[in-house]
Amino acid sequence: MKILFFFLALFFSSTSTALADCPAPADSSFAAAAKAKFDCSSSLPLKGHETDRKFQVHYNFPKTLPDTSKLPWLAINPDQDPAGYMKAILAYVTKVNARPEIDWRIEDNKQEHWCDAPWFFMLREPLRGMTTERWSRPKELHTLQTGWERNFAVGIYNDVACYGFGQIWENPAFPKTRGFAFTEGAVSAKMLFTSATPSSVPYLAGSKEWDIAGKKDGGTMTMRLLQLDISVKDKRSPNGWFFGTFVYNAMQPGNTPYERLVPVGLIWGSDPALNADAYLSKAMTPTESWVNPDVVAQFYALPRQHLGLFGRANGPVDNPQSACITCHQRALDWGTAVLPDTWQETEAEKLLPDVPSDPYDDKAIAAYFRNIGTNSPVADTQSLDYVLQVSKGIAAFRNWVATDFPDHAASTTDVPPYPFKQSDPDTCACAPTNAKAVTIDNTVEGISEENGPDPTGRLFLR
Ligand code: HEC
Repeated sequence: MKILFFFLALFFSSTSTALADCPAPADSSFAAAAKAKFDCSSSLPLKGHETDRKFQVHYNFPKTLPDTSKLPWLAINPDQDPAGYMKAILAYVTKVNARPEIDWRIEDNKQEHWCDAPWFFMLREPLRGMTTERWSRPKELHTLQTGWERNFAVGIYNDVACYGFGQIWENPAFPKTRGFAFTEGAVSAKMLFTSATPSSVPYLAGSKEWDIAGKKDGGTMTMRLLQLDISVKDKRSPNGWFFGTFVYNAMQPGNTPYERLVPVGLIWGSDPALNADAYLSKAMTPTESWVNPDVVAQFYALPRQHLGLFGRANGPVDNPQSACITCHQRALDWGTAVLPDTWQETEAEKLLPDVPSDPYDDKAIAAYFRNIGTNSPVADTQSLDYVLQVSKGIAAFRNWVATDFPDHAASTTDVPPYPFKQSDPDTCACAPTNAKAVTIDNTVEGISEENGPDPTGRLFLR
């Protein structure tokens, strides 16, 4: 009897952990191992809520290009009516996905085709597939916000973007990126939720809530919708893409939280000339962003003042030293693994810093805030067309191959591996590389087991 109980306990414990685990490969081949990883939804733990519905990756990659002639935002001129343009895209994204019976479970949306980005299982929490984002520092969201707050996000893609995913990932054991570009009409939408509550950020009252397994041990926490990002491939932008963001505001009229989302800004270029000198001595303002004056006023009163550097469009959760499109133009494939804590990683960070090393260093600003159009941000690499989840997914695949199947590294890329060269640390005038992440200890005020320390122990400044 005892033995039976033991096996039963083993069975149940292994099934409950298996839910958050990756599927087992069909056989011992490399192709089967790659397919199992590709099909994995989340490998992060879940504690409590074990019987709740789980996040399930949904890859609905059309084989033929969907009709892009009737997309509703095409009738609106983004220069003349940026807010109207953004609202048309928001309405398109939320039309079915935001219905209570779907609630972003895109596999339940039978009228439209949306998909997820591959190779994020190791970063996705198991309930909603959310990945951890930059934390919000005290007073970044509101004057009453005294502690650090965590943010999580999940992005989804429309059928046009999913067609592009299918071109890359038709064979999960051999992603093809050579010459890759998305087609006009590709859309991504990303919802960002915060751990902040209305007592510290009053404009969050009545926002949409999700319980997610955001704690290190898989414990759940209640998060609120704060920001909704969109990106759209549209040739009316000189760089081929528009990026826009909305913020939730409790004071807005509307029957649903989505109706209370306010356009924050739209950006189509990096404004390369807008550096510290131009901003401070010439009062230059962005010409390649539209920003909503009401939202500008709401955030200008905070220590951060601007959402994006020197007034460029950006979101409340984003790094104020950057701007949407500038950070996103960094999407590329190195064609080779860049493993953590190697000199190649140091070189990669120098070539492609997450944020400028110093916002008052005009050289660093000129190197970072560029308009590159369809070019890759680093010569001799393959552009991944402004979609960072594609580049991060490819990078995760390449790192896995290099670690677990090094013999397959060369035969699983159709672009040449980037010829990294180790620079001499004494002569290199490169940007400091510590801008990306600082190590935190959990004794920092406001960051505790309570609100869930970052599982990696690193605070992403993104
Ligand atoms: C400093 C860098 C940075 C800034 C600034 C930034 N993002 Fe992102 N964004 C990312 C990264 C990294 C990802 C993918 C990683 C993830 O989802 O976990 C991402 C993902 C997204 C996605 C999902 C599709 C994709 O490209 O992966 C959208 C849509 C998006 N961001 C829109 C925006 C908008 C709109 C803004 C400005 C309001 C913005 N982003 C600002 C780094 C940035």
